[in-house]
Amino acid sequence: IVDSLTVTKTVCAPQCSGRCFGRNPSECCHVECAGGCTGPKDTDCFACRNFNNSGSCVPQCPQTVIYNRLTYRMEPNPNAKYQYGSICVTQCPKIFVVDGSSCVSNCPSNKMEVEKNGVKTCEPCKGLCPKVCHGTSWTDSNSETVDARNIESFINCTKIQGSLNFLVTGIEGDAYNKVPPLDPEKLKIFNTVEEITGVYFLNIQSWPASMSDLSVFSNLQTIQGRKLYKSYALMVVKINSLTSLGLRSLQNINDGAVYIKGNKNLCYHDTVNWTRLLGSRPQKLKEKHVCHPLCSSDGCWGPGPDQCVSCKKYSRGGTCVPDCMFLTGSQREFATKSGECLPCHPECKVQEGKETCTGPVSNKCLACASLKDGPHCVSMCPEGVMGQEGTIFKYPDKEGNCKPCHNNCTQRCTGPGIGDCTISSRYISG
Ligand SMILES: *[C@@H]1O[C@H](CO)[C@@H](O)[C@H](O)[C@H]1NC(C)=O
Ligand SMILES: *[C@@H]1O[C@H](CO)[C@@H](O)[C@H](O)[C@H]1NC(C)=O
Ligand SMILES: *[C@@H]1O[C@H](CO)[C@@H](O)[C@H](O)[C@H]1NC(C)=O
Repeated sequence: IVDSLTVTKTVCAPQCSGRCFGRNPSECCHVECAGGCTGPKDTDCFACRNFNNSGSCVPQCPQTVIYNRLTYRMEPNPNAKYQYGSICVTQCPKIFVVDGSSCVSNCPSNKMEVEKNGVKTCEPCKGLCPKVCHGTSWTDSNSETVDARNIESFINCTKIQGSLNFLVTGIEGDAYNKVPPLDPEKLKIFNTVEEITGVYFLNIQSWPASMSDLSVFSNLQTIQGRKLYKSYALMVVKINSLTSLGLRSLQNINDGAVYIKGNKNLCYHDTVNWTRLLGSRPQKLKEKHVCHPLCSSDGCWGPGPDQCVSCKKYSRGGTCVPDCMFLTGSQREFATKSGECLPCHPECKVQEGKETCTGPVSNKCLACASLKDGPHCVSMCPEGVMGQEGTIFKYPDKEGNCKPCHNNCTQRCTGPGIGDCTISSRYISG
């Protein structure tokens, strides 16, 4: 009886942290084993502490990006694997998508699913994630206009499929159908809309008296009409509270005409070069209001440099500016081909009397603020990043250029020789 007890519960040597396949100090399990094992290797475990990579227990699956010594960048690893539960897989199972290094069933709310090289992947959204919503409908009397009942259904919409009608029964309410008036504040929900597409149009026949423009649509870039229906793409009729349109992002009206009539106090709409917005269809222009001097001859949606259809020279975040911060200011800029002022990479060194960068990325700086790895300005040299042939460590030389440590260094180093390797504290104590 005593004998069978000692067999089922092996007493491990103290070095083994309780996991071994014999009493001898040389008979410890690999550190990546969770329970017992049949031998010392990471392939001999009964179960893995972290991940199972084709039978080997590993602390992490082969990473999705590795350091490329030739380009000095982190690049996709052709031998990457993804975490699927506690197993490393080369492809996520069919209904799963890749999020970073894991297989997930749905992308998190700040990312959207995109197909990349045939693989479904979660990518961060630039700004709001795209959301397509249905517009109002002439054929459904419960939703022929935007009103207090349906306004919430437009939250976070970036694209409206169908038309958006604003009728008096929606804005002022409809006592007969027990629909209360629409709170004008709620119209700000339309701030996220970038595109209206489909059969009909943006149709404004009623608008809150307290609102003097349509700036709740200030992010609307495109109205896609449909040729087939010969309808209007934009219609604004008899809204006396409007003094300007304020549709500052509108750049395209594809098919369908524009009908703006009977708005007693509306200005600036006659400065807009509708020909440019509508493509080729001509439009007669009337007497002009004066746009801000930084606007180009394309006109404007209202007063001020943020209401120009396009800028004479430079713009920053949708507002026309006389110049980018090429030579002044703490945050230096460069200009894109289209004249947009954008900040230099934070690792660029601010230059006096000349430009600081020629593009947005870290290899477009004229000089680096701290260190340089190949052509890229970096805040620190690569340390312990995965490379094609194992982990990579670099050190900064006197000029601040990142140079590789000796091949045999398993930690950081302070110079190129094997004697310059930093010995880990774990190594000394262990
Ligand atoms: C690792 O996974 C393989 C199959 O995917 C399995 O046969 C093996 O038992 C697993 N190993 C461990 C230690 O869990
Ligand atoms: C709208 O988007 C914001 C930010 O992404 C989010 O916090 C919020 O829950 C969303 N609301 C709805 C109703 O989708
Ligand atoms: C309006 O835009 C069209 C097309 O871009 C251009 O040919 C025309 O000269 C512009 N008109 C004015 C008055 O600037």
